[in-house]
Amino acid sequence: MKRLAVLTSGGDAPGMNAAVRAVVRTALALGCQIYGIYRGYAGLLDDDFVRMESSSVSGVVLHGGTMLKTARCKEFLEEENQIKAAETLKHRGIDGLVVVGGDGSIKGAEVLSKLGISTVTIPGTIDNDMHGTDETIGHDTAVNAVVSAVSRIRDTASAHNRAAIVEVMGRFAGNIALDSGLACGAEYILVPEVPFSREKLARSLKRQMEEGRTNSIIICAEGADDGRALGEWLKERTDIDICTTILGFIQRGGQPSAKDAILGSTLGAAAVKALLDGETAALVGMWEGKVRKVSYEDAKHIKKPFNQKLYDLAEMLGAAQVEGNIR
Ligand code: F6P
Repeated sequence: MKRLAVLTSGGDAPGMNAAVRAVVRTALALGCQIYGIYRGYAGLLDDDFVRMESSSVSGVVLHGGTMLKTARCKEFLEEENQIKAAETLKHRGIDGLVVVGGDGSIKGAEVLSKLGISTVTIPGTIDNDMHGTDETIGHDTAVNAVVSAVSRIRDTASAHNRAAIVEVMGRFAGNIALDSGLACGAEYILVPEVPFSREKLARSLKRQMEEGRTNSIIICAEGADDGRALGEWLKERTDIDICTTILGFIQRGGQPSAKDAILGSTLGAAAVKALLDGETAALVGMWEGKVRKVSYEDAKHIKKPFNQKLYDLAEMLGAAQVEGNIR
């Protein structure tokens, strides 16, 4: 009987629990034993394992966060700890490990694969910024959280004739900003992938408000500018009343959308099957709507391009329609 293990690592993402549930139940259905490892690589270093049964994952599919807990584990970057982790897995007789997480988590899995442990990674991050897959678990839920927050913010901004800056997560990527910005009809979307001019933004915003707009939404990716500092700067430059909201962690928690719960379930099952088929050092992700396995090595070269077409569309439908762009 094969013995598998699963851990979640890096920033949690809604839908990770659906993935864990699918890993556990698929493994059991295919006659394996399955263990959960708490707190990602940190728990692996502490030998923090739990045997999982079907009932261990009852009721978790629509819970946000991750039932296995997670961590960003700096100690795991050290070679002696990586060797210790591989030895722990060997000592416990683990035949394959499923890692759910982002780019940093893949790196850890890759190291373990080189040390003789079979690993498969499932992409999980709200940022949707991973190489080798065009979907990641949690992104859709985060985008929906931003859209619902912006709808509330627009109401109050409009009541006061204010412009509203909404800073969203995404680290170095603008995917959350772009997808949510287009979905909620933001007037401006600031992303790290497309340089913009604060001066042009100020001029465009001023004209808009002078011409009678009652509100204007500026979605600002955290990697593009500091929302608070931008707000102060724009206030001084334009005299427009500006309210700034840093959305923060409300984007990362909460019940996964149906799309993320389906994605987590699909990839969780696919990851177990991949391990049992003898696959290792592979990312099980999505490409053009289909599940796709790609080696960690190849994934590095399949850079997910920024969706410039979508950005151009969002820009054309926003303030640029009247004002021209702010690049
Ligand atoms: O990678 C997910 C993410 O939420 C990013 O969008 C954000 O920059 C970062 O994690 C925050 O990380 P932490 O939870 O460690 O502060």
